[in-house]
Amino acid sequence: MVRAWYMDNSDADQRLEHHRNPPYFIELDKLFEITGVEYFKIKSENPIEDQLLKKIKLERNYNYEDEIICSKECLPNYEEKLKNFFTEHLHTDEEIRLVLEGSGYFDVRDKNDEWIRIEVVRGDLIVIPKGIYHRFTLDSKNYVKAKRYFVGEPVWTPYNRPADEMECRKVYVEKLEKGFGTPSAIKV
Ligand code: LAC
Ligand code: NI
Repeated sequence: MVRAWYMDNSDADQRLEHHRNPPYFIELDKLFEITGVEYFKIKSENPIEDQLLKKIKLERNYNYEDEIICSKECLPNYEEKLKNFFTEHLHTDEEIRLVLEGSGYFDVRDKNDEWIRIEVVRGDLIVIPKGIYHRFTLDSKNYVKAKRYFVGEPVWTPYNRPADEMECRKVYVEKLEKGFGTPSAIKV
């Protein structure tokens, strides 16, 4: 099960959980309401054959996909890439990831600029909205294999904070003020 929690402010190893004391977990519906981050559990033994995944891909027109492995052995320029992933940034498009093996943490900012850490493991499909400040780190197991999806030609460009003048950021902030409502009915 995916879990999300508010992070502490310690500058200890980014790969640790960074819970607050006491831990402050946040429900996934709540996570959507306050950040717009969507989460789906892909339950099949073989996630890429899953019916819900197929439905999501079709309905959202995720017509591009590839696979990324983050590990010392498999990722070229590992140290540099990991450093960039963990530098706070945003994108002009959604960031869509389905974890196939291993695990990691996506951190997203809430309205008050607090970090929320989202733990992802096998079968977790996460959709990070365009314009939200976020970052990614491996956990202490140092390995994740994930599918990346995209609508059309993929653009992975990160815009590091500050990027407040970008149109996608302004649109996101507007939504943030209003709230994102309840998660869509597709979620089962
Ligand atoms: C990315 C993630 C790591 O932009 O945020 O690829
Ligand atoms: Ni990103």
